[in-house]
Formats: sequence, C-alpha cells, structure tokens
Amino acid sequence: MRSTEASSVAPADGHVGETRATAAHDRVKTELLFAGDDTSAVDAFHARTVWGRTLERRLSVRIRAFLSEPALREIVSRSRNEHRDAESIALPDAGLGELTLEQALLRRRSLASDAAARERAIGLGDLAAILKYSYGVLGERRLGAAGPTQRLRACPSAGALYPLEIYPVVMDVAGLAPGVYHYDAIGHALSCLRREDARTAMPGFDLQPEFKAQASVVFVVTAVLLRSMAKYLDRGYRFVMNEAGALTQNLHLTSLARGLPGCVWGGFCDEEVAAYVGADGAREIVVLGFVVGKR
Ligand SMILES: Cc1cc2nc3c(=O)[nH]c(=O)nc-3n(C[C@H](O)[C@H](O)[C@H](O)COP(=O)(O)O)c2cc1C
Repeated sequence: MRSTEASSVAPADGHVGETRATAAHDRVKTELLFAGDDTSAVDAFHARTVWGRTLERRLSVRIRAFLSEPALREIVSRSRNEHRDAESIALPDAGLGELTLEQALLRRRSLASDAAARERAIGLGDLAAILKYSYGVLGERRLGAAGPTQRLRACPSAGALYPLEIYPVVMDVAGLAPGVYHYDAIGHALSCLRREDARTAMPGFDLQPEFKAQASVVFVVTAVLLRSMAKYLDRGYRFVMNEAGALTQNLHLTSLARGLPGCVWGGFCDEEVAAYVGADGAREIVVLGFVVGKR
C-alpha cells in the first residue's frame, strides 16, 4: 500500500486508537518521504516482527521448546560456522590497554573525522584484541544441572544464539598474509579461507573507493538468520540487526582502545561482498562491514 492510500481506510469500531496511530504514521511518512515512495514492504515486514498477540502465541511455544529440549539446547550451545579444512592461525592474547570507557566514548569518531587516532601499521595483536573484546568468548554458563556449557560472548545476543559471524578481510596487517579469514571465536583463532591481494580483489567499494585505499582490514559481519529465527521466528530478524549494532559499537571502541580509527561500512553491494567471503546471501547474509585503517 502506498503511503498516501493508508489514510483513506475507514476506521473500524473499537480500533480508534490504532487508526489514530496509523494516521500519525501516514502523516510522518507524507512529510518525510518523497511523494510516491513505496514503503509497503517495510511496513509489512515491520508488522510481522511486532511482538503482538499473534506472534506471542507462536513464540511462546517455540521458546518453551528451546528451553526444555536438551537436543535443541545442545545445538544452540555450539552453533557457529566452522572451517575444519582451513589452516588455523592462533591469535595472541592481547589486551585493550588503559583507555577508560569515558575517554573511548568521547574520542569515538568514524574514520574520516577521527582526530585522536594514531596512524600506524596494524599488527596481529590489534586484530586479536579487537576480535576477542568485540565478539570473543569471555564467559560461560551451564544449561541446567546436567546440560551442556553455553559459551558467552563479548556482545549480548538474544537467547545467547550468536547468529553473527566475522570475516576479517586482511589488506595490510603486519604478521598476517593478505586475504580472507574467518574468526573462530571458540578457539580464538583465524581460519584462513584464501590468501590473495585483498586490496585489489575485494569488491563492493564502488560508492566509496577511498575506503579501499584507507583500509588495513575490513571486518565483514554476516548473520546466519535461522540461528535466531528458529527460536524467535520473524522477530529474530530484528534481534539479529540489534546484535549487529552492539557488535559495531564494540568494534569501534576496541579499535579506538588500540589507537586505530574505524568506520561502519553500510554502502556496499550485498551480493558481491557475500560472495567474496563465501556467504550464500540467503542462509547467511552480509549485515555490515567495519573498516579499520588509516585516515
Ligand atoms: C549502519 C551504519 C552504516 C554506515 N555506513 C557508512 C558508510 O557506508 N560509509 C561511511 O563513510 N560511513 C558510514 N557510517 C558512518 C556514519 O556516517 C557516521 O557514524 C556518522 O556520520 C556519525 O559520525 P561519527 O561516527 O564520527 O560520530 C555508517 C554508520 C552506521 C551506523
């Protein structure tokens, strides 16, 4: 439905509040969007992800099953992408230094405008610290008295399902060959998927070619949607995006703590970047990129 058509729907008895809300929504859309913009797909998607009575009935059955089924819990407790045939490169146990949270938040700016960051080469220790304190395993809890152990990561995750994966695309990191890697959070290691000149080979920089020159490493963040949606149905899609936001802030703050400027990268061609890191774009989608590099 086009934005201008919604207001012509007659109010049904007993739905006055809802109709008022719809009218306000339509007014905002008319004021903010270009005439003729069709937001119907987003409206429909949003409606499906609203935690209302309809979704709640389906969700409560699903959530109960997840909490009570040992087999499901077992699967959940170890869900992650693995590349068993790939060479595994252990990451050092590097820390974040002395920067306070307040200082980090005050200094956090995106790549182009980051005045506080040092300009220096990135090393394996930087990569290790950023990955560990952004999405690494930092804790654990037991699922029931005799259940499996659930590993807990640096980011909050709905149901501790951890649907996100990180693929560091290395362009210029001291001690690591350029190429495409995957972060094995459980082993705190990198799986080497491909060694190549990533600065030349990586696609998706058409809108911002300067990123390609600036980047020392690009963290491509993907999501295995069903990991969250198996439990939370359509609401799971929202959760995945919420979690990507939390991860983004972790990536920003940890990079800054190591003295390195970063920037979220949303303006890429999904299909090209997904294919580049080996995600199929359907079961596993690209959510965002995070560029760490020089100004
Ligand atoms: C989801 C998201 C996508 C973004 N995509 C891009 C991008 O593609 N290119 C870019 O230069 N900045 C991108 N940014 C960075 C914003 O432009 C930046 O955060 C904003 O200008 C505020 O500046 P600050 O981060 O320095 O406070 C993105 C930020 C977010 C949160």
